[in-house]
Amino acid sequence: MWFILQHCHPQEIMNDSIDLDIELDTHFGIAHTRWATHGEPNAVNCHPHRSDKNNEFVVIHNGIITNYKELRKYLKSKGYKFESETDTEVIPKLIKYVYDNSENDYVSFSTLVERVIQQLEGAFALVFKSIHFPGEAVATRRGSPLLIGVRSKYELSMEQIPIQYNSTGDAIIEHTNKVIYLQDDDITAVAQGKLSLHRMSRCAGEDPNRAIQTLQMELQQIMKGNFKAFMQKEIFEQPESVFNTMRGRICFETNTVVLGGLKDHLKEIRRCRRLILIGCGTSFHAGVATRQILEELTELPVMVELASDFLDRITPVFRDDVCFFISQSGETADTLMTLRYCQGRGALTVGITNTVGSSISRETDCGVHINAGPEIGVASTKAYTSQFVALTMFGLMMSEDRISLQKRRLEIINGLRMLPGLIKEVLTLDDQIKNIASELYQQRSLLVMGRGYNYATCMEGALKIKEITYMHSEGILAGELKHGPLALIDKHMPVIMIIMKDACYTKCHNALQQVTARQVRHTHTHTHTEEGGLSPSL
Ligand code: UD1
Ligand code: F6R
Repeated sequence: MWFILQHCHPQEIMNDSIDLDIELDTHFGIAHTRWATHGEPNAVNCHPHRSDKNNEFVVIHNGIITNYKELRKYLKSKGYKFESETDTEVIPKLIKYVYDNSENDYVSFSTLVERVIQQLEGAFALVFKSIHFPGEAVATRRGSPLLIGVRSKYELSMEQIPIQYNSTGDAIIEHTNKVIYLQDDDITAVAQGKLSLHRMSRCAGEDPNRAIQTLQMELQQIMKGNFKAFMQKEIFEQPESVFNTMRGRICFETNTVVLGGLKDHLKEIRRCRRLILIGCGTSFHAGVATRQILEELTELPVMVELASDFLDRITPVFRDDVCFFISQSGETADTLMTLRYCQGRGALTVGITNTVGSSISRETDCGVHINAGPEIGVASTKAYTSQFVALTMFGLMMSEDRISLQKRRLEIINGLRMLPGLIKEVLTLDDQIKNIASELYQQRSLLVMGRGYNYATCMEGALKIKEITYMHSEGILAGELKHGPLALIDKHMPVIMIIMKDACYTKCHNALQQVTARQVRHTHTHTHTEEGGLSPSL
């Protein structure tokens, strides 16, 4: 039997993804492929973390332990010596502490884990292994996603695993397509090749089983093909992925748009007081990018919010608000917590998610699966363009009956029809873009400037540059140039400007002139002659 965990796109919790395989017939190992948020990226801060030099207990963790400082202080007072700067390390130390203090009576591995997680605050998906329990692994989760792949040489005798009550998901597909979604505080253990599931107690009405679901992903979908990295592959998939977002939803003959997941809620949405678009990182940028078009097509006030900030502000939300939760993974903790917050205040919640079966997809009242296909690269790329298309389609659906908007709707639908082809055209610039990149990547900083519809493009571009090159980059609204950022501009500061032949064209040119006046050089331009062309300029 294999015991596999998958983690979906969790940058905001830990900037990482879990990827581990455990083969129990003969041997098994646990691993986590990314760095923790706490501490420098170095060997000592890597997973697994251990209880002591003999590795009595080792743990891998995805998520964040918010009370780690208190636990660390406590354990230090008990003589434990910490090796890393991570929050995770308190967990193996704590389980050893619990084990050592229950020496007299036999305590099972899963009971030890149960006792440990009672002391933890925050979000976690955990896998434990111990020299005291050879051939056993215990996994649990709270807040962070965790799923178990099940593969058996024999036909499974049942399609569900019963929960035992105490009275007293990277590439899983390679090994199995059977998975079990764990619920918060479920504890699962593998011993002697047998899988069991435990909970402390049973709540009224709770399903006493967890279904084994068959994942719809196919192995080939997540293979890299001829590309060097998943991110590159996913960038090149965009002509196809944006098409898949529209497939079966836009009819270009009749110019109609039907989003199956929203059609029954349209009446309610049309009556709302405002739309609130909520997300993190790239998904937040998709909200910024579509805000204007949604204001125009829905004629409603549209707020765009970063999930973490929305919660920090304890933002007022009302029953007649419609809150959109934009998330590729559907598991981002801040977005998920904001969803629960808005639900608690009676707002209608709408998901814009890529991952069917994810927490956000399951917990929202309704929504749209963007159908971009699995996004394995850590930096989000094709999900962004598909989120953009999905939100635009929502605007089109909302404005179907507005006579005054028909011309504009047709213009947008026509734009969407051309989009896959236009993306293909941009992708043929790969070599040109590479030349520019090789000139820029060693600079200290890179500004990306534009305005109007492209302000989001600038912020998103800058985020990708930061994430992939580790270089400072900032997206600047060209209209703000004279209010401060101009001070940064001299001949050493590279600037990429996005200038389209749209309503902001003249204003963008003014900004370009201000920039070039301060720079002696003006080296590259690429101009697309069509309306809405692309013109980065250095
Ligand atoms: C659905 C099917 C699709 C099928 C099509 C045919 C699924 C997942 N999709 O697509 O395979 O080809 O019908 O008519 O079975 N939802 C949320 N939150 C989200 C995302 C979606 O609640 O974040 C809900 C929707 O409201 C809907 C359901 O999930 O009830 C499926 O959404 P979606 O896949 O977008 O619907 P269709 O495009 O109709
Ligand atoms: C940036 C990136 C992140 C994610 C963010 C939200 O390239 O990938 O900023 O966009 O962590 O993730 P999701 O969309 O999964 O909620």
